[in-house]
Amino acid sequence: MDGNGRWAKKRSLPRILGHRQGVKTVKEIVKASGSLGIRVLTLYAFSTENWKRPQGEIKGLFSLLIRFLKKELKELHKNSVKLKILGDLAKFPDEVQKELNGACELTEKNTGLQLNIALNYGARQEILYAFEKMTKSGIKNLTEENVSNFLYTAGQPDPDLLIRTSGEMRISNFLLWQIAYSEIYVTEKLWPDFTGKDLQKAIIEYQKRERRFGGI
Ligand code: FPP
Repeated sequence: MDGNGRWAKKRSLPRILGHRQGVKTVKEIVKASGSLGIRVLTLYAFSTENWKRPQGEIKGLFSLLIRFLKKELKELHKNSVKLKILGDLAKFPDEVQKELNGACELTEKNTGLQLNIALNYGARQEILYAFEKMTKSGIKNLTEENVSNFLYTAGQPDPDLLIRTSGEMRISNFLLWQIAYSEIYVTEKLWPDFTGKDLQKAIIEYQKRERRFGGI
């Protein structure tokens, strides 16, 4: 969800207002994903590296997240959205953990859009954690399937499409294992300016790609 800060800077506004606008985009994209029949949507909201940001901005992000859940959870649940957090929540304030865990529990049995929110997420950390859990569980058979089953995304399909907003050409430690064969789409649009129509455009572009998964 890149570009919230730049969106605010362009308007001489504090960065947090860019994030607030970014939440409006989250609502629009979740809705559009449901209408387009997308099965899984993953939003990268807070990386393990984002702790380097000023305390004020981090606190502001937590309140936006809580406000989003308090305002939208009922509607998300009504639309059968199933929420999952990818990442280690232990470092988050108790209130944030409580809200997030409550939202995941409430929507656990829903069968509509799987909405993953990556929070305090880093892909290398996720892979290490998977190996650690695997070792503890006593599984000695190191297969790709076994590793996938110990990731936060266990049981979910690998992403078909990775969208990066605001022209960034990096992966930034996002779902490194899962995106092995994902198509990448980069748009110059900043996240707060990204719309349901832009999502459609990305999907149409994706549909024109020829996926060979290493074959010919
Ligand atoms: C990227 O823009 C955005 C973030 C690091 C934070 C996004 C998280 C929220 C808006 C909190 C609420 C989340 C949900 C899912 C409701 P940036 O700050 O890196 O922008 P820049 O690259 O232009 O500086």
